[in-house]
Amino acid sequence: MGAVIAGVRLGGDLDAATVAAVRAAVLEHKVVFFRDQQHLDAESHEAFGRLLGTPVAHPTVPSVDGRYALGIDNDHGGRANQWHTDVTFVPAYPAFSLLRAEVIPPYGGNTLWSSTAAAYAGLPEPLRVLADGLRGIHTNDYDYAAVRPNAPTAALEQHRKVFTAVTFRTEHPVVRVHPETGERTLILGNFLQKLLGFRSRDSRALIDILQSHVELPENTVRWQWRAGDVAIWDNRATQHYGVDDSDDHERTLRRVTVDGDVPVGVDGRRSVLIAPEAVPEPAYGIASGASTDGALAQS
Ligand SMILES: [Fe+2]
Repeated sequence: MGAVIAGVRLGGDLDAATVAAVRAAVLEHKVVFFRDQQHLDAESHEAFGRLLGTPVAHPTVPSVDGRYALGIDNDHGGRANQWHTDVTFVPAYPAFSLLRAEVIPPYGGNTLWSSTAAAYAGLPEPLRVLADGLRGIHTNDYDYAAVRPNAPTAALEQHRKVFTAVTFRTEHPVVRVHPETGERTLILGNFLQKLLGFRSRDSRALIDILQSHVELPENTVRWQWRAGDVAIWDNRATQHYGVDDSDDHERTLRRVTVDGDVPVGVDGRRSVLIAPEAVPEPAYGIASGASTDGALAQS
């Protein structure tokens, strides 16, 4: 889980062989890290993202600078201290996320990633069989106050309002077959609200059991950021967690996501958008999850 790649200068002009090697490393190690990419700005970050797929906008959080890059900064409710996979409340959630560190606090603010392929593979056989048949409902409309008890109410309310401008509900299989590696990976994380066909108490208990395997330290890697670092992860085979332990020091990162494909379960059933009827067009660009034809984003 996790690999550091040295000797590569990321950008839109990277040669095809190196891009292919980076892509293969992301698929194998789930998350890869690059130091010293200070030359990147919003434009070249996005240009590099295009080499891995089609950059997509967040379905609800608007672009501030007319770019696909999403700002993640702890001043504006952007703390991510819950285990999650990015944007799983839409069907074709992003295949890859590319996170670039601009300002890093003097201490803390690490990010953890977990391999949902390793978590699945490590389940005891009866649990794997159970998980293979489960379907879950993911939504962006969850109880923010419950997960951020110390956040200032006004900031939290503002973040919630923007983030849930449109309420999405999507049904995913709990286990998807990865379109590039063929591995089985778990679709869980904080946007998962409930499992279909269970009373809520049973649903919660089952989710907790499965999620506990994702959070096993053996399945994770932890990265200590420096300004100029870039992390690229396979969003179809990971969850991540931004540790909220740098108090009020500034922490600013930029994220570019590239389009994914509609997940397919072990039984061949695809994910389904339940609400709204279609993923609405964002204020800027192409929405994450807008592709519904199951086509795989390729470089
Ligand atoms: Fe995230």
